[in-house]
This record gives sequence, C-alpha cells and structure tokens, in this order.
Amino acid sequence: MKSTTRDPIPMKGLILSGGQGTRLRPITFTQAKQLVPVANKPVLFYGIEALQEAGIEDIGIVVGDTKDEIIEAAGDGRQWGVKLTYIEQEAPLGLAHAVLVAEDYLGQTPFVMYLGDNILKSGIKSLVQEFQDQKPNALILLTEVPNPQMFGVAELKDGQVIRLVEKPKQPRSNLALVGVYMFDHYIFEAAKTIKPSWRGELEITDAIQYLVDHGYRVQPHIVSGWWKDTGKIEDLLEANRLILESIEGKIEGVVDGESRLNGQVILEKGAKVVRSVVRGPAVIGQNTRIIDSYIGPFTSIQANCRLVRTEIEHSIILEGSEIADIGGRIDDSLIGRGVKVYRGEAKPQVYRFVLGEKSEVGLK
Ligand code: TTP
Repeated sequence: MKSTTRDPIPMKGLILSGGQGTRLRPITFTQAKQLVPVANKPVLFYGIEALQEAGIEDIGIVVGDTKDEIIEAAGDGRQWGVKLTYIEQEAPLGLAHAVLVAEDYLGQTPFVMYLGDNILKSGIKSLVQEFQDQKPNALILLTEVPNPQMFGVAELKDGQVIRLVEKPKQPRSNLALVGVYMFDHYIFEAAKTIKPSWRGELEITDAIQYLVDHGYRVQPHIVSGWWKDTGKIEDLLEANRLILESIEGKIEGVVDGESRLNGQVILEKGAKVVRSVVRGPAVIGQNTRIIDSYIGPFTSIQANCRLVRTEIEHSIILEGSEIADIGGRIDDSLIGRGVKVYRGEAKPQVYRFVLGEKSEVGLK
C-alpha cells in the first residue's frame, strides 16, 4: 500500500537506567533504583509497559554500574513483546550524555526518552501520537508542582517553550519537567555542543535550551494525570500509594478463618495470612507469612518475608525480610532485602543495631 503523510513516523524508545541513585541509599548500595518495586513490580517495568502501549517496540536501555541486574530482570524484552537493546554508559555524566552514548543505536529515528525511575499514570500513547502528528523537534512534558525549586522548570510564552532552568532559586513558573521527552535527531547536535554544568553533567535542560535558541521547535505538553519520580523515599512511597489505589484484589494465597481482609488485597501464590487483619489496598508477595499482624493500607510486601506480631502501613518491604514484635506501628518505611527487625528477650533490654552506611532508624 502506498504510504501517506498520515502514517505515524516510526519511533524508538530510550529508557535511562544508569545513574547513581544516591538519594535512595542505602537501598541503592546493593540494588539498582530502577528495580525497586512499586506494588511489587520494578519501577523500570512501568516505563517499558508505557512505551509498549504507545506502540514502541524497539527500546534501548542505557545502563551503568548496575547493568547485570537490569539485564537479568528485563531480559530481551520478550515478555512485553518488545526488543530491548542495552547501551552502556561508562559513567553517569548526565541525561544528555546518555542520549549521546545512544546515538549509534538511535540513528535518525525520533525517539521517546523515558527516565527509568519515573511512573506516569496516564501512559504516553496520546503524547506519542501528538509528536507523530505535529512533528516538532522536541516535545517536553510538564506538570504543575508546588515546589519548582526542586525540578527542571520551563518558562512558556505564547504556548511555546522559551526557557528551561535546572532547579531555579527563583522559579519563573511552576511547570516542572516530567521525566519523559520526545526528540528527533537534532538533539545530538545540541548534546554535542553544550558544556557540562557546575555538577559536571551534560544536562538535558541545556540541550533543549540549545534547540530553543537555535530556532528548533520545542513543544510543551502539560500532563494532567499524576507523575512520580521515584528517586527519593517519600516519592517512592507516594508512587506505591498511587499505584495501589488502582489495583484489583486477587487471592492466590491462603487466609485462615481467624483473619480478615478488607478492601483490595493481592495475596500472591504461596502467601499465608494467619490470625491477622489486612486492610487494602495492599500487596503481599509469594510465600510471605503474615502472622498475628496488622497490614494497613498502601503497603507492598515482596516475596519470602515473615511478619509476626507486627503492625505496618504505607510502607514497602523488599524480599526475604523478617519483622517481629516491634511494639509500635511501622509507618512510611522502606525496608531493604533480607532485613531483620525484632525485639530480643535478652537482658539488659537494650536497642541493638547492625546498620549499614546511610541506614536510617526513627524511634518514637
Ligand atoms: P537522576 O535521578 O537524576 O540521577 P541519579 O540516578 O544519579 O540519582 P541521584 O540524584 O539520587 O544520585 O536520574 C534520572 C534517571 O536517569 C535515573 O533512572 C538514572 C538515569 N541516569 C542515567 O541513565 N545516566 C545518567 O548519566 C544520569 C545522570 C541518570
């Protein structure tokens, strides 16, 4: 069939999954932040799914030090029906640097760049369509935030982007850059021309500013649904809450007659709830045991954990952890893999901690 100008231009995806993850330490000392689970699914997978839903099947993933575990988790992309190609970045030298290392992979094909630790509620399908229909050189997503000082901020005039500033002290708008961008190949010219910022990184905001300054068309799109960058603990818990709000309960594990489940609860295979109350929305992973405990709303517990005489809500517990007899309620917490928290019998009654670098303990 003869192609017409209305055929969508083919696009590739580029997910950035390198970086250091310093703000999520100590978890990121031993794990890629993009693999931290939200509602028991790695954050990275939300990005792959968003691209796949938008019809993008050729996806490059930029990886750094945590390359091996990212490859192990996402594989060749077959489980989503996409093709994943891994692209190594020798050091986290900035988002625009990540674009440059992917130049050979991307070639002349326009692409969606998706930050691997971001989740966008409403997906990106309509935005990809907008880019394909209107063919700007770049399309950037923006959202109104109460604290623009913490973000890359865009200033608009007559519906076009005129200025971008990274974490401005005196923001001129409350429109923050969301971690999803669409570019054509002129972004390489921009990324090659800009210089590293004061923090030594090639900033994507500078590259986009180059496009604006050199007469390329940078189109803004203000997103309405929620967007979360899960790079910090509060935001990760908030993303977990938002995703859990939309889950549907599914019981594949076992609940004894003395337990009560309220609201939407996912109990994965082999999980067991004994003499406990689980108030959803909550997810309890495979083979996890909940005994004489209370699991409150917005809690995600991964596989092979054991909670005994424990109260917890609005928290994420990673694989293989054990918690028993704490006494108070655990709230707003992120507990890493294979962690043990318990009350000992031994006298004197003291607190005994074995905490790694950057661990945090808040006592009442
Ligand atoms: P950031 O969260 O801005 O950076 P970071 O991962 O180094 O985290 P922190 O500030 O806590 O140390 O990165 C956004 C996403 O882009 C994230 O998924 C990591 C990825 N990234 C790269 O792949 N390469 C890079 O050079 C940078 C800076 C980030």
